[in-house]
Amino acid sequence: MVLELDQYSDGKAARLWNLYIGDQSERTRHYKQFLKRELNAHSCDTVLDVACGTGIDSVMLIEEGFSVTSCDFSDKMLKCAWNTRWNRRKEPAFDNWDIYEANWLTLTSDLDTDRQYDAVICLGNSFAHLPDLTGNQDSHRLALRNFATMVKPGGILLIDHRNYDYILDNGRAPSKNIYYNSQYVSDINTSVVYQDGSPSKVILDYVMRDPTASTDSTLWLDNQPPPAPSRTAISTNQKDNEFTLTYYPHRVASFRALLEEAFDHRATVTTLGDFQPLEQVQDPAFYIHVVHKSEDSPQPNGDHPEEAWSSVSSSEE
Ligand SMILES: C[S@@+](CC[C@H](N)C(=O)[O-])C[C@H]1O[C@@H](n2cnc3c(N)ncnc32)[C@H](O)[C@@H]1O
Repeated sequence: MVLELDQYSDGKAARLWNLYIGDQSERTRHYKQFLKRELNAHSCDTVLDVACGTGIDSVMLIEEGFSVTSCDFSDKMLKCAWNTRWNRRKEPAFDNWDIYEANWLTLTSDLDTDRQYDAVICLGNSFAHLPDLTGNQDSHRLALRNFATMVKPGGILLIDHRNYDYILDNGRAPSKNIYYNSQYVSDINTSVVYQDGSPSKVILDYVMRDPTASTDSTLWLDNQPPPAPSRTAISTNQKDNEFTLTYYPHRVASFRALLEEAFDHRATVTTLGDFQPLEQVQDPAFYIHVVHKSEDSPQPNGDHPEEAWSSVSSSEE
C-alpha cells in the first residue's frame, strides 16, 4: 500500500497558494529580516530549503546572495519554482539554483548526497503537514533527524509551525497573522479532530473570494481594488476557490523536545514567537525555532533508517 501524503496533488492549493500568501513583499519582508539576521549571525552561505513549495523563500534568499538548494515532494508546487528558475535562468544565481523532488522521510536517499548545509530551513507551517503515521510520532522523528543530518556542525535548522497550543486551547487560530495578508481570503474554518481523547489533526478549510465579483470597497485599500490575480488563479466556480489542508497539531514544548532529540541533545534550541523573543509577544500566530548544531556533533555514519519508510510515497502509484 502506498500512502498519499501530498495534500497539493490535486493542484487546487498549488493554484491558489500565491493568492493565499497575499502581498508577497509584505510576507517576504518579515521573513527576509529574520532569515538574513539568523543566517548572517551563524555565518551561513549554503541553504537547503526542504519545503520550498512555490519557491517564495528560496527566491528571496537567492536574491539576497545565498547559495540555495531547494526541494519539496509536491510536483504541483515545484512547477511554480521550476518556472521561476526557467524564466530567470539568464541570471547566474538562478541558473545555479538546484531544485529537487524529495520527501522528508526519505530525504537523504531522494537527494542522493551526503552533503551538509550551513542552514536547513523548513518554513511556512510546512512541517505540520506531516501526519503521525504510526501513532508514536516516529515519522516526525525520522524527518527531523534527516534535517539534522543535513546541517553542518555549527550550522542551523530554522523550522516553524502555527501556534497549535492556542488553536487547541481556543478552537481557533490567533486573530492576528503577520505571515499571510491576502485580500482574497474570505474565510478559514478551523476543526480539531480527536482520536482516543487526544487531538490528532487540525483541519483548515480555506475559502478564497473572487475579487472580480466583489463590490465591497471597504475591502479595498485606499478605495482601489486589489490588483487582479493571475487569470488562471481564481475560478468563477466558487468550489474551485476552496481548499483544505490538514496539520498535525504540534504543541510547542513537545516539538522542542523532538528537536533536541533529533540533534542528539547536541544543539541549542531558541524559540521565537512571530520572530520576536517569546516574552515580548502574546499569542503569536507562529512559533519559529532556531536550532544551532554544536560544532563537535559527530558526522553522519551513512546509515539510512529511512529505508523502512520507502512505501510511504508523495504520490499514488
Ligand atoms: C505550506 S506549503 C509552504 C511552502 C513554502 N515554504 C511557503 O511558505 O510558501 C508546505 C510545503 O511542504 C511540502 N511538504 C509537505 N510534506 C512534505 C514531505 N513529507 N516531504 C517534502 N515536502 C513536503 C508541501 O508539498 C508544500 O509545498
